[in-house]
Amino acid sequence: MRLIYVAGKGGVGKSVCSASTALWASSQGLETLVFSMDPAHSLSDILEVEVGGRPRKIGDGLHAYEPDINEEARKFFSRYRNMLTALFGLFEMEVRAEDFGSFPGVNELIFMDKLYDIYTEDQYAVVVIDSAPTAMVLPLLQLPRVTTGFVTRMLGIKSKWMGVLNMLEPGFGDSILSEARRLRSKSETMRNALLDQNIATITVVTIPEKAAVMESQRLIKTVESHGVHVDSIIINHVMQDCDCQYCRQKKASQESYVQELRSQYADKRVATLPDYGGEVKGETLSLVMDDLYRKGQLEI
Ligand SMILES: Nc1ncnc2c1ncn2[C@@H]1O[C@H](COP(=O)(O)OP(=O)(O)OP(=O)(O)O)[C@@H](O)[C@H]1O
Ligand SMILES: [Mg+2]
Repeated sequence: MRLIYVAGKGGVGKSVCSASTALWASSQGLETLVFSMDPAHSLSDILEVEVGGRPRKIGDGLHAYEPDINEEARKFFSRYRNMLTALFGLFEMEVRAEDFGSFPGVNELIFMDKLYDIYTEDQYAVVVIDSAPTAMVLPLLQLPRVTTGFVTRMLGIKSKWMGVLNMLEPGFGDSILSEARRLRSKSETMRNALLDQNIATITVVTIPEKAAVMESQRLIKTVESHGVHVDSIIINHVMQDCDCQYCRQKKASQESYVQELRSQYADKRVATLPDYGGEVKGETLSLVMDDLYRKGQLEI
């Protein structure tokens, strides 16, 4: 299985590029899933089909999935109830299933859990991950360390307290440990997958403007320092030729950022996409697919 994680700052075109990449992969005969890791889903709107909270077949070899984060948070809470009660208990906090989804880091945890299911069920040749605006891949990578820390701590208090916990409610202490171990093992599996270039790569989407380019450079540096491979960059909204002075100036400035990215990242594929002059959805996605893949700027 290949995991293509599409990252970048807010509004640069991640969802459009994810949907087009999935369309292309499926058109090449690869069983493909496009999976939204953004709680504010936009695939339904872009693909012009109601995607929904279960993987759904939406075309030949093409599936889409937008997990309902509130429903998944409740399910996650009940699956790891003992561990979470103990964890929050350490901070003297009481947490209800319905509030769990609003805690920081919980979205990443839930999406990691969903991605794990998809990864281990192994039904798709390609999974394109449409990510949220922030670099959610980092918390994903750090999860194993956090869960290992937690398990170690639990093991540390095991001898002292597990007997007491089990006395309070039979099996409580043991189930805390087994839930924590299960979560750690899942997060380790996903971490190893994300660190394996043959499995996971990141495509960074950006626009040719100073702030966006600088943020992309930071993002690439950070994820690469964690060992995840960024193999391509898509520079979106590149202006077409126009003779007016405003456009000439803007185009020259855009061109300098395109050149900067091309020379800085000579080891990666750098693709450009024009501004299509209106929202990109439905049929227009095939233009993006052609520009990125049929013209050979990127490959799957
Ligand atoms: N090349 C383009 N030309 C014209 N419009 C575009 C282009 N690329 C994206 N858009 C439009 O820009 C908007 C944002 O695109 P998209 O939703 O893909 O961005 P995003 O990075 O996923 O945003 P978010 O961070 O909110 O998830 C959409 O309305 C989309 O139709
Ligand atoms: Mg999006």
